[in-house]
Amino acid sequence: MRLSPTSALLVAALAVVVFTGVKMPAQSAPAYPPQLVPDNPLHPAAPTQPLPYSHKTHLALKIGCQFCHTNPDPGTMMTYPATATCMTCHQSVATDSPAIKKLAEYDSTHQAIPWVRVYKVLPGVKWGHRFHLAAGLKCQNCHGPVQEMPAMYEKTSVTTMGVCISCHEKNHAKTVCSTCHSAPSLQQQVGQPAGAAATKSTQR
Ligand code: HEC
Ligand code: HEC
Ligand code: HEC
Ligand code: HEC
Ligand code: HEC
Repeated sequence: MRLSPTSALLVAALAVVVFTGVKMPAQSAPAYPPQLVPDNPLHPAAPTQPLPYSHKTHLALKIGCQFCHTNPDPGTMMTYPATATCMTCHQSVATDSPAIKKLAEYDSTHQAIPWVRVYKVLPGVKWGHRFHLAAGLKCQNCHGPVQEMPAMYEKTSVTTMGVCISCHEKNHAKTVCSTCHSAPSLQQQVGQPAGAAATKSTQR
């Protein structure tokens, strides 16, 4: 998702609000994008994290996802925020809380917070956030209603092959094996991939 001039302005305006603590005028609740992939049928529990970070609490402050998750270029990952990003507020917010004392300690000793990963595709699968965001997909399309989650867990089954392929089919994106697998052995297992002819017109 490249920022349009309007959303860049919005981000700038938000940054001003965040840094100066000015109250935004009352506004209607934002409409969040829908979840477009099935729920994870296993309903896994949230892992125990080093700090009790809540997306629900923080997104109620109307911070954009990319204030904290930046997808550095080059790179496939959205990444976790630097402690300095947290400290823009927690220098002064909830400083008496034991969790925030721990956060301040990570920050002052320059340690990255050892967050436990929630979503992970198998090693070797070709994946990237960038081209999905460039295609217009939104975070919640794949990760579900993050703004309602006190603790992050693997809400959707977006990391499974069936779910990748089914969304690719719906969006006329490529479905040949080599789209997502570089290992030639995978393609030898099935010979000429069945999807090859059907998706030819969408290949670049
Ligand atoms: C104030 C910073 C902040 C904002 C804003 C924020 N996040 Fe996060 N996010 C985090 C932190 C910290 C973690 C790691 C802890 C956790 O998993 O809860 C995380 C973890 C995640 C994960 C799990 C990553 C993994 O380990 O697989 C997803 C998915 C995610 N965020 C999506 C979003 C989306 C979508 C938004 C916007 C709707 C958003 N985040 C906004 C800080 C933020
Ligand atoms: C097309 C589906 C899709 C969209 C859209 C999407 N994600 Fe993800 N996300 C995934 C998958 C799949 C993984 C696991 C990737 C891996 O193992 O590297 C993941 C992993 C993550 C992670 C943990 C690993 C990392 O990349 O740092 C974070 C954080 C995350 N997503 C946040 C977001 C945010 C924020 C957005 C919106 C800006 C977003 N995602 C949009 C599917 C998606
Ligand atoms: C835009 C300002 C802002 C940013 C940035 C921010 N927070 Fe917060 N955070 C808050 C507010 C406001 C609360 C609610 C405080 C309260 O309830 O007293 C909060 C609460 C918390 C709490 C719960 C504290 C408690 O014990 O009640 C934790 C933990 C936390 N934040 C961690 C983080 C982490 C980790 C980051 C960086 C990934 C972060 N915050 C970034 C504003 C922010
Ligand atoms: C919600 C829909 C959706 C989901 C889920 C999804 N994708 Fe995609 N994917 C797309 C779209 C749309 C494109 C862009 C197609 C284009 O630009 O022509 C794309 C593009 C790609 C590309 C680049 C293809 C190329 O070479 O042009 C790769 C690789 C890819 N996806 C892998 C994956 C993997 C792996 C998963 C599952 C872990 C996945 N995708 C899940 C919709 C999705
Ligand atoms: C749109 C992306 C995508 C396409 C296209 C795709 N796969 Fe996959 N594949 C994945 C993902 C993601 C996984 C990992 C699933 C998981 O972790 O549950 C996977 C896993 C696999 C595995 C299991 C690998 C292992 O090490 O356990 C095999 C075998 C496989 N794929 C074969 C194929 C074949 C053959 C094709 C072509 C007919 C194909 N895949 C097309 C995304 C894709």
